[in-house]
Amino acid sequence: MNMKNLKLIQNKAELRALLKEIKGDVGLVPTMGALHRGHQSLIERANSENDFVVVSVFVNPTQFGPNEDYDKYPRTLESDLKLAESAGADVVFAPSPKEMYTDIYFEEKETTLVCPPYKYVNRLCGKTRAGHFDGVCTVVSKLFNLTNPKRAYFGQKDAQQLFIIKKMVQELDFDIEIVKCPIVRETDGLAISSRNTYLSENDRKSAVNISKALFKVKELKDKGIVESSTLIDTAIAYLKDFEVDYVEIVSKNDFCSVATVKNGDIILIAAKTPECKVRLIDNLEL
Ligand code: PAF
Repeated sequence: MNMKNLKLIQNKAELRALLKEIKGDVGLVPTMGALHRGHQSLIERANSENDFVVVSVFVNPTQFGPNEDYDKYPRTLESDLKLAESAGADVVFAPSPKEMYTDIYFEEKETTLVCPPYKYVNRLCGKTRAGHFDGVCTVVSKLFNLTNPKRAYFGQKDAQQLFIIKKMVQELDFDIEIVKCPIVRETDGLAISSRNTYLSENDRKSAVNISKALFKVKELKDKGIVESSTLIDTAIAYLKDFEVDYVEIVSKNDFCSVATVKNGDIILIAAKTPECKVRLIDNLEL
């Protein structure tokens, strides 16, 4: 195991001062904490490709809607520090909201935002989570400005987020390589997520149907069934007890829905579990 001497930094000036002294490539792993094996794989990859690794742990208020789980989102800094250190991080940057945002945000609930085009955000997760991707792009831009990384690591699990961040980097001329990291799954196929901690025992059993639906669709597509509507109906049949938010098949190039599936297209699911209504997302490249 690659154990470094991890430093916890909670203030922006201290982070900037430390990074000024660093020679070599900085890798950034932005997270909202509650670190799990998925994050671990991102940090390990960042450690293998960079000289210095910063993991940010910040539950970002600007990406949560008023009726979402900002207050109850798991906050587990002590165990996050242990996982980050054992995966090879040099710094965990864990600012408070007051450190991250200026007074105007707390007084007016407004701040300068980075807003991706409507075309990228008017569907999939953006449809039911108004303003979510503005918040994500804003905090990710702030983290990029604070850490000036050579590479930044994001999981494929949040496929639309990854697509939008890549577009933002291109459109705002950030000189940063965005590294896409594969989804990490439990042995039964459930995609690992911080929100899995909300699942009741029954929901945990049901949750596996999401990945089962995805893998069934891949199996059918590999057998030559390429009509999206047929494949989507197959997936929906696995989600009988769920509140389905969306099941869509999109092109990885523009994230627009496709009628006929070709190699590399992505099927995405967002659905709330039957019992506790935990909103889970997952996807698979076809
Ligand atoms: O994917 C996440 O955990 C968050 O959306 C991110 C990228 C850390 C921004 O807050």
